[in-house]
Amino acid sequence: MAPNFVRSTVRDMDGYVPGEQPAPGERIIKLNTNENPFPPSPKVMQAIREMEPELLRRYPNPLAESFCAAAAKVLDVSPDMILAGNGSDDILTIATRTFIPPGGKLAFPDPTYSLYPVLARLQEADCVSVKWEKDWALPAEGLLQTKANAIYLANPNAPSGTFVSPTKIAQLAKDFDGLILVDEAYVDFADDNCLSLVRQLPNIVISRTFSKAYSLAGLRFGFAVAQPAVIEQMTKVKDSYNCDAIAIIAAAAAIEDQEYARRTWEHVRGERQRLSSELTQMGWTVLPSSANFIFAVAPDGRGREAYLGLKRQGILVRHFDKPGLSDKIRITIGTSQENNALLGGIKALTATEKAA
Ligand SMILES: Cc1ncc(COP(=O)(O)O)c(C=O)c1O
Repeated sequence: MAPNFVRSTVRDMDGYVPGEQPAPGERIIKLNTNENPFPPSPKVMQAIREMEPELLRRYPNPLAESFCAAAAKVLDVSPDMILAGNGSDDILTIATRTFIPPGGKLAFPDPTYSLYPVLARLQEADCVSVKWEKDWALPAEGLLQTKANAIYLANPNAPSGTFVSPTKIAQLAKDFDGLILVDEAYVDFADDNCLSLVRQLPNIVISRTFSKAYSLAGLRFGFAVAQPAVIEQMTKVKDSYNCDAIAIIAAAAAIEDQEYARRTWEHVRGERQRLSSELTQMGWTVLPSSANFIFAVAPDGRGREAYLGLKRQGILVRHFDKPGLSDKIRITIGTSQENNALLGGIKALTATEKAA
């Protein structure tokens, strides 16, 4: 029983459920939480090793200014258009507290990243989900009709991996009075992004993360890009020292080493293509993905059985026990060896079923 001094909203809600994290050293092929299969850039590790102890004795720079300067150069925006966060989940929390008043409304296409409704609830706000249109097309009319304070749009979307063109998002932003947050956690694996929209459209905030494209999920670092007047307001809402000194140094080194990061993205895109076509040949239906994972419908529609069968073989993928999703599994793109093991595991499932 929850103690009665806990806010009723918190008592009555379900928390966000993260994907399983096996203990270090466990022999598992982990394709369930969309981490990058490669280690971080050697330059990141070197920057961490060379840190002065004095940097840990003192509080970190509250605005992570050295990171903002490095990121601004790479992204071709000004440093005052960037706000650093403790993972992009921190950016999403800051955005929800900045743009959605208690009693207000958050809208998003459904299904999407399941943290969004949790954040709205914590803000004592309503959330309205609008079903994606056929083939995961943007339900623009439905979203506009919600008259929400903000629309959160994961692009590429999770768990589908599908992508909405920046032109469609620009039109939505022009037609909408509130804020549009484009959650670009997976965008480095896509062909396009919404960065250039931010200059023309004051009601777009982009959030990005180092957890996927830069192999730093354990570090916890993300950032927002928006017009300076918007970043200024979001800065008031964040914790004073939301990013630690190690993370600031490591993230700056990571974004500066574009050559290394891009090599990992290229590998992931190539393997995504290979996995998608091999699974298709095995009778699976694979959604076109712009992310570092694929969402695949099991041939017999038994997604949960496929997830459990792979788990028994030491291969972790993600299954969502929800209407419209339960026939599918979401598979993170791993190294070539991991992907081969996954394909072998799926073949073994089919063989077991035939024998049964
Ligand atoms: C769509 C989406 N946005 C944001 C995040 C959070 O990423 P971070 O590790 O930066 O908090 C995730 C994590 O899986 C995600 O899938």
